[in-house]
Amino acid sequence: MGAPNLLNPERRMLRAMQLSDADRSWDLASLLAACDWTDQAVAVGAGHGLQNHGYVSVSETRLVEVRLDVEGERAVEDGLLEQRLWSWITEQSTATMADLQQAFERHEAGPGVGLLKQLGVEIESGVLVAPDPERLEATLLERAAFLSALPAQAEALDETMLGHFSSRKNLIQSVERTVRHWSLTPAGLECSPDDLQESMVVTDITPELLQGEEWKSATFRAFDVALEATTPRTGRSHPMQALIERIRAIFLEMGFSELVDDYVQSAGWNMDALFIPQDHPAREMQDTFYLDEPASIDIDQAVMEAWKAIHEHGGETGSTGWGGSYSTDVSQRPLLRTHTTVNTIQYLAENPTEACRVFSVDRVFRKEAIDRTHLPEFHQIEGIIMEEGANLQMLVTTLKTFYAKMGYPEVRVRPAYFPYTEPSLEIEVKWRGKWLELGGAGIFRPEVTEPLGITSPVLAWGMGLERLAMLVLGLDDIRQLYISDLEWLRNQPIL
Ligand code: PHE
Repeated sequence: MGAPNLLNPERRMLRAMQLSDADRSWDLASLLAACDWTDQAVAVGAGHGLQNHGYVSVSETRLVEVRLDVEGERAVEDGLLEQRLWSWITEQSTATMADLQQAFERHEAGPGVGLLKQLGVEIESGVLVAPDPERLEATLLERAAFLSALPAQAEALDETMLGHFSSRKNLIQSVERTVRHWSLTPAGLECSPDDLQESMVVTDITPELLQGEEWKSATFRAFDVALEATTPRTGRSHPMQALIERIRAIFLEMGFSELVDDYVQSAGWNMDALFIPQDHPAREMQDTFYLDEPASIDIDQAVMEAWKAIHEHGGETGSTGWGGSYSTDVSQRPLLRTHTTVNTIQYLAENPTEACRVFSVDRVFRKEAIDRTHLPEFHQIEGIIMEEGANLQMLVTTLKTFYAKMGYPEVRVRPAYFPYTEPSLEIEVKWRGKWLELGGAGIFRPEVTEPLGITSPVLAWGMGLERLAMLVLGLDDIRQLYISDLEWLRNQPIL
C-alpha cells in the first residue's frame, strides 16, 4: 500500500520518524531538528496531516507555565517590597512610622506596611514591632525562593504561594501552552520509503521547465479558485473613458477615421448648414449656450449666401426653403456646439467629393435642467458615411453592427424627424426587455449637401454616449458618471 497523497513535509516527517526507534515519542524540537525545519507551523501541520492519514498519533497536553511578570522581575533583583521594608526596620534602633514614611515613597510605604501587618508586625505608639521575627523572616525567604524558582509548571508549585502571588499585582503571570508529542502508528511504520520521496512541486510552468524531463514526474500545485481573494486596488481608467476607448476601437475596426474638433462654433455651421430654420425653437437662448466672446465667428461669404438662398427659397434644390428672411449676423453668432453634427458637416464641406467614413465621440452642450437622465454637458457618438450608392439599408446595418459589437444585438429603427435628414430615423436598442431610444440618424437632405458641393449620399447619425453608458454600467442616474464616488468607481466592471 502506498502513500501517494502525502504532501512533501508529511513525507519528510514520516521518513524521519521511520529512521528512528519505532516507538519513540517525538517532541517539537526533535522533529524540527530531524526534518531540518525552523518553522514550527510546518511541523505541526505535517503532523496533523499524518495524523489524518492514520500514520502518526498525537498526544496533546495543556500546560500552564507560571512566569515572572514585570514587578516580579524587579522583586527578584531588588527584593520584595515587604523584604525591603523589613530590612530597613531591622537596621533602625527604633523604627517609627514617621521615619519609615521618610525613607520610602508614599506608594511603597502604604502597601508595604500593609504587607508587614499581614505578617504579624504591629504598630505601638508609632513604632513598628514584630513579635515573632523568625517566623516573619522564614516567610520572606520562602516568598523570595518561590519567585526565583520561576518559570515553572503550575502543578509543581506550592498552591498557597501561587494563590498569594496571583492576588498581587504584576508579580507573576500564567501562560497556557499545548505540548504535543508525535509517535508512529503501525500503519506509519509500514509506509514504504519509496512512497516517501519528496516530489518536485511545480507552481509555474516555464519554457525552461518544459525543456527538461523532471516535470514529467513532478506534482503540479493545484489552485483553489474558490478561495477568497482581495481585489487589487490599482489605478484604472474611469468607466466613461474606458467606454469611449471601446467605442473608438469599434469604429476604427469598422474602417472609420476619428474626427476631433472644437466645441466653440458658429450658429451657421451648427444650425444653418443643417437647414435648421433660424426661428427654430431649439435655437433660442433657453436651449443653447451662446457666447459673448468672440463677438462673432467669420464664415465664408459665399457659403452664407448659399445658405441664405436655401433657407429663403430652396436655392437650386427644388425645395421651397423656409421662406422669410435669413440673417448672416445670426449665422455668425458663437455658441457651444449643441451636437457634433456641426463637425461632420464641416468635414464634408472641406472634402465634398471624397468618399469617407468618419466618426467622433465628443462633448456637446445644451441648456438642460439636470436630472436623472439629463446633463447640460454630455457626449455624442457621431458618424457619417459618404459614398456613391450609400443607402438607408447600409445606414441601418452600420448602426446594428456597432451596437452588436457593443453587446446589444437587438436594434430597431423608427421613423423620426430632423430638419437635415430625409428619411430620418430613431435608433432603439433592447435592454432588459425594453426598447430604449439611443439616437438619431438619417440621410442628409439636398438642402444640406448641395450648397456645399457634396454629390454622393451621406448617411449620418448622432447618438448619446451617456445613455449608452447607463446601459453598459446598469445606471439609473446619469449623474453617477460625474461624481467622484471612489467605492462605485472601484467596483465598475472592466469594459
Ligand atoms: N444631431 C442629432 C442630435 O443631436 C442626431 C443626428 C445626427 C440625427 C445626424 C440625424 C443625423 O440628436
